[in-house]
Amino acid sequence: MNILVLNGSPRPNGNTAAMVSAFSEGATENGHQVTVVNVCQKKIAGCLACEYCHQKDSSHERQCVQQDDMQEIYPVLEEAEMIVLASPVYYHSFTGQLQCAINRIYALDKPKNLKKAALILSSGSEDVYGGAIYEYQNSFLDYLKLENMGIFTAFDKQNKSEEKMNELREFGRSL
Ligand SMILES: Cc1cc2nc3c(=O)[nH]c(=O)nc-3n(C[C@H](O)[C@H](O)[C@H](O)COP(=O)(O)O)c2cc1C
Repeated sequence: MNILVLNGSPRPNGNTAAMVSAFSEGATENGHQVTVVNVCQKKIAGCLACEYCHQKDSSHERQCVQQDDMQEIYPVLEEAEMIVLASPVYYHSFTGQLQCAINRIYALDKPKNLKKAALILSSGSEDVYGGAIYEYQNSFLDYLKLENMGIFTAFDKQNKSEEKMNELREFGRSL
């Protein structure tokens, strides 16, 4: 299975990156092809709502007018069968950088091959996941009709713990 991970953390060696690595290791071991995009290392602006992408029967239907790094992600997104949203919790939701990338999926409406999804969240405090889970549930599971493969969270000392890394590795292997 082709798996696309959108990692919204700006910290290359941070807590989210550690969970993403453990997940990727397990999934790769099980023969899946995992592409991790660190969205904070890309230049991805928010959606302009210009509707260029939704002009029916035009040569540019499903294409975003903005020529930034999201253009590299669109083909990967079209090939992906599973999407993993990974983010530190910022103000009870995803990071702004990840939110921009998510909003830009609007151009494709529904990526062609996507069937499954998972969510990985890191935070400082416990029980701060409601905002991100709401968006995941409503926009990804309900609207895009994706099957939920799991929601993984780590707060405080759970971050980078051996137990959490094993949980993520096992999840990857189980797919
Ligand atoms: C701008 C900002 C906002 C944050 N907001 C929250 C929050 O609302 N709740 C929380 O528990 N932690 C919050 N945190 C802490 C991060 O979620 C936490 O440190 C996380 O483990 C960082 O993950 P990373 O190492 O992958 O970047 C915030 C951190 C920053 C920088």
